[in-house]
Amino acid sequence: MTELATRNSSSVSELRCIGCRRTALPDRFRCESCRDLLEILYPGWEPGGPAGLGATALRKLWLERRKSFAPADMSGVWRFREMLPEIPAAQIISIREGNTPVYELPHCAKVAGVKQLYAKHQGMNPTGSFKDTGMTVAASFARHAGYRWVACASTGNTSASMAAYAARGGLNSLVLIPDGKISWGKLSQPPDYGAITCQLKTDFDGCVRVLNEVVERMPVYLLNSVNPYRVEGQKTAAFELLEQFNWEPPDHVIVPGGNLANSSAIGKALREMKQIGLVSRLPKISVIQAEGANPLVRTIRENGGEKLIAVHADTMATAIRIGNPASWKKALRVIRETGGAVEQVSEIEIALAKAEIGAEGVGCEPASAVTLAGLKKLVKQGFVKTNESVVLILTGHVLKDADFTLKFHRGDLFEGTPYAAESAGLKSHQRSPLVLEPSVDAVIDLLKSADK
Ligand code: F0G
Repeated sequence: MTELATRNSSSVSELRCIGCRRTALPDRFRCESCRDLLEILYPGWEPGGPAGLGATALRKLWLERRKSFAPADMSGVWRFREMLPEIPAAQIISIREGNTPVYELPHCAKVAGVKQLYAKHQGMNPTGSFKDTGMTVAASFARHAGYRWVACASTGNTSASMAAYAARGGLNSLVLIPDGKISWGKLSQPPDYGAITCQLKTDFDGCVRVLNEVVERMPVYLLNSVNPYRVEGQKTAAFELLEQFNWEPPDHVIVPGGNLANSSAIGKALREMKQIGLVSRLPKISVIQAEGANPLVRTIRENGGEKLIAVHADTMATAIRIGNPASWKKALRVIRETGGAVEQVSEIEIALAKAEIGAEGVGCEPASAVTLAGLKKLVKQGFVKTNESVVLILTGHVLKDADFTLKFHRGDLFEGTPYAAESAGLKSHQRSPLVLEPSVDAVIDLLKSADK
């Protein structure tokens, strides 16, 4: 591995502890002194702004790059490279991540009770989730730092993304996932991308515990979301969103909460955009968790954010089945700084919201649908006003969990669960695939009865 100094004379960025503010070596994840998480800061930004460019020049440069065919410019992450840690262009591993669409959701807006509702669909990334935006930066750093192996514990999306970026970058990868608790779609990706895939007989939090020890003993670079380079890449979703909104911030951004890195990343991006004058005010960032995996909600409600209340997590939204989120302090800071809220939603509310997003022709995986379910509650509480603009961050593609979707439409998703009776109310949203004889009349009859 290359020798890594804390900083050298040409460094723009450095790693600092979020607690005691001590600097750290670039390939560390926790402060050696107080064990808190690290974040990347940019003391090397010039007085005029990153790379000496002010807000107007940066906006113009980033948009110009969309016309370029240079690999780094075609990436929706690296076209914002003035805001990222410096990694030599030759080390960049990119699969054309980012540049994801914003969709209007008029029907969901009506259901939620707001006039303007949009979805920034991060599931439209190369491996089908928002993880790719962070992975391009962290995997590139791993290669630059001379690592041969990368590893992660995952509820499925991180592992898919890591395996793809490792493969593209010529790195070996090791995946630890909870046995039987991730969707088939996600389980299928790492082996296809060449990773060593281990299903451990524990949950996500158990996988994290094992991996933390493995990376202490072996020269393996950790690509979980405690990795500060991943947070930097994930920031770019917010730059892109603001660009898509012509730099006029929406009133609210709503993010699903699992390990709580994504909300932290989006908040960090907004903080930095305000610092350099790209935006003049911040949207409120709210985080939504599943009722069965609600450590942040409980922490804020029960002790005002003093100390994390870890829970034993259980939800069908397996991506966010996390009871002991690593980045809770970072997320809490973002919620407080922007005046956002936290909320929790039930399994039935998640399933309904997912169907409503699907019925807009957009679709997402269950964990992403907590955003719409949470928005409905925030509107009812008066926290989100009818005339305010809202952006939901959809984190995963609809095909990530086809099993959930099919079971929902067939009506057996909640069979044998405590929610079976309540799920009867979902019938009008269910469109089960039908099996018919190969007869023209049968199809025409069906068409007529559906067209009423
Ligand atoms: N949505 C999806 C689709 C996810 O896969 C995750 C996390 C989240 C939301 C939550 O984001 O952890 O930054 O708060 N998935 C991780 C994984 C844990 O391993 O794929 P977060």
